[in-house]
Amino acid sequence: MVYTEVFCLLFFVTFIFHLIKRPRIGVNEPPLVQYRFPIIGHTYYYLYDSENFLKKCREKYGEPFSLYVFGSVRTFTGVENSVEVLKNDSFDFHAAINKDVFNQFKKLDPVYTSRVIREQISGKLDVYISRIQSELLFGIEKYFGDCKEPKTFRNIQHMLGLIVAKTVANVIIGEEVAQFEDIITSFAMVERGLTKMRFIPPILTFISLSLNAKFLTLPLKFGWNPISRHRDIFVKRYKPIVEERIRQRKKLGEKYIQKEDLLDFFLNEPHYKTDIVDDKYMDGLFAQLYAIVFASTSSTSKALAFALFDYGGRPELWNEIYEEQLKIYNDSNGNLSVEDVHKMVKLDCFLRESFRHSSNIAGLMHLFTGDSFTFSNGTTIPKDRLVFVYTRDTAFSDKFYGETANDFQPKRHITSRYNGKIVHTPAAKVDRSLLTFGVGKRACPGRLFAVNGIKLCLHKLILKYNIRTESGKVDPPRRFSALTLPPISGLVFENRN
Ligand code: HEM
Ligand SMILES: *[C@@H]1O[C@H](CO)[C@@H](O)[C@H](O)[C@H]1NC(C)=O
Ligand SMILES: *[C@@H]1O[C@H](CO)[C@@H](O)[C@H](O)[C@H]1NC(C)=O
Ligand SMILES: *[C@@H]1O[C@H](CO)[C@@H](O)[C@H](O)[C@H]1NC(C)=O
Ligand SMILES: *[C@@H]1O[C@H](CO)[C@@H](O)[C@H](O)[C@H]1NC(C)=O
Repeated sequence: MVYTEVFCLLFFVTFIFHLIKRPRIGVNEPPLVQYRFPIIGHTYYYLYDSENFLKKCREKYGEPFSLYVFGSVRTFTGVENSVEVLKNDSFDFHAAINKDVFNQFKKLDPVYTSRVIREQISGKLDVYISRIQSELLFGIEKYFGDCKEPKTFRNIQHMLGLIVAKTVANVIIGEEVAQFEDIITSFAMVERGLTKMRFIPPILTFISLSLNAKFLTLPLKFGWNPISRHRDIFVKRYKPIVEERIRQRKKLGEKYIQKEDLLDFFLNEPHYKTDIVDDKYMDGLFAQLYAIVFASTSSTSKALAFALFDYGGRPELWNEIYEEQLKIYNDSNGNLSVEDVHKMVKLDCFLRESFRHSSNIAGLMHLFTGDSFTFSNGTTIPKDRLVFVYTRDTAFSDKFYGETANDFQPKRHITSRYNGKIVHTPAAKVDRSLLTFGVGKRACPGRLFAVNGIKLCLHKLILKYNIRTESGKVDPPRRFSALTLPPISGLVFENRN
């Protein structure tokens, strides 16, 4: 295969190149952690033991510190400096491949996309909440079923992905098309295709970052596109619906009753107003909507899976959380409003604690695009430096979580109680003590929607089933380099009645 040969050749060239070239570090830069083997640098430890390795670096060198990974110097920020990076616009949230993949369909404006999500999705939960619940109940019935006899599920994230995808589809592309199974599968799977591409070993960063990006998008130029399949399904299912809506709008004019979903919102936006629904138009819609699908479905189903494993492995939490759900259910007849979801304080504290524990070891890669940046502690990094947030340093910091930082204690998020009322730090709140959703004005615009959906789903599952881990213990997460993934061990569901 030509691809492989080119790959080997480039690897060889890189190898030679690097025998000559060593990383250069400026005078005032964060310290570069010592390493023994040229070229490889810290790559091995970072890939296979990032948890202990980063911890040791942090202890020995303080923060920020730099590592030599995949042939480039990368700076890692800890609990003190991460917020400076996340809040500064000169750090570009670097999702180069995703950008390339979607940009070939339409150039997207991330600021616009974020605003739309904030205003039209997170800001309209009261409009969507009853539909979200119907979709959740449908999914739970379909995938979990009755469980009269205890039933063990081993691939829970896949099922949760499909359930989440259907709620997302309902809100962003509308109720009609959310009924099609191929669309739901496509929503649940699109992230996987792109992620695979991203994890082709980033060997070429050994030469240069930009070359690596070019190499990774090479398949796109040759027509191998992991998402063109999704585009085809989308166009097939969605085009008739878009055409029909546009026809109705023209026919009824002023009398047209706006539908509540993102499609009708976009049809009102100046740059999406149209009479002709051709391929180009559908490509534009596809890029815009699937960029949102991409950001939402897998992150949400991952968080949901973690929460179920955290719940299933800790029987000491079951009673309290169950009682709270039962009371809210009784008071609302099962049709919950946004206020009802706000009343789930114990579940919310539990979820925040689950976010904390499932935090990646390091992530949120940003590329520094300014000329030079000086951290508050005086060290400076140059242009084009890759900066990673050592998220676990914040999530388990004794600065915020004291001596019990390693324990799973939902109650730590309760800040005060008076008159029987509990005041707590909500799971969706962004601040410097938890970076699950980022922080500052670029923090995740979909977090309210995500947290509400997750709480509703947990609420319905907890009321219906006893849920426990098959092992009877808290199962450890899986690690992929510095990423944290939910366990794939069994979860047992059994109907409460
Ligand atoms: C538990 C689920 C979720 C997690 C953990 C999560 C996490 C994040 C994080 C860490 C960022 C990057 C912040 C930064 O760069 O500083 C982000 C950005 C983003 N998220 Fe989420 N997210 C979740 C759910 C969602 C949902 C449901 C949506 C859409 C409805 C969404 C849409 C976005 C978008 C569009 C961005 C990019 C914002 C920008 O470019 O400025 N996310 N998310
Ligand atoms: C900043 O932190 C680094 C550790 O990353 C340390 O070596 C350096 O002395 C600190 N600089 C100042 C001015 O505190
Ligand atoms: C909820 O309703 C059921 C049956 O109506 C009742 O047995 C139970 O005590 C109620 N629970 C709470 C917490 O209100
Ligand atoms: C739930 O309540 C909302 C209004 O509060 C209503 O529009 C909706 O139809 C109800 N859903 C069900 C399934 O009863
Ligand atoms: C971001 O960093 C640049 C240096 O590259 C600095 O000039 C700017 O003031 C910073 N912005 C904020 C909001 O801190």
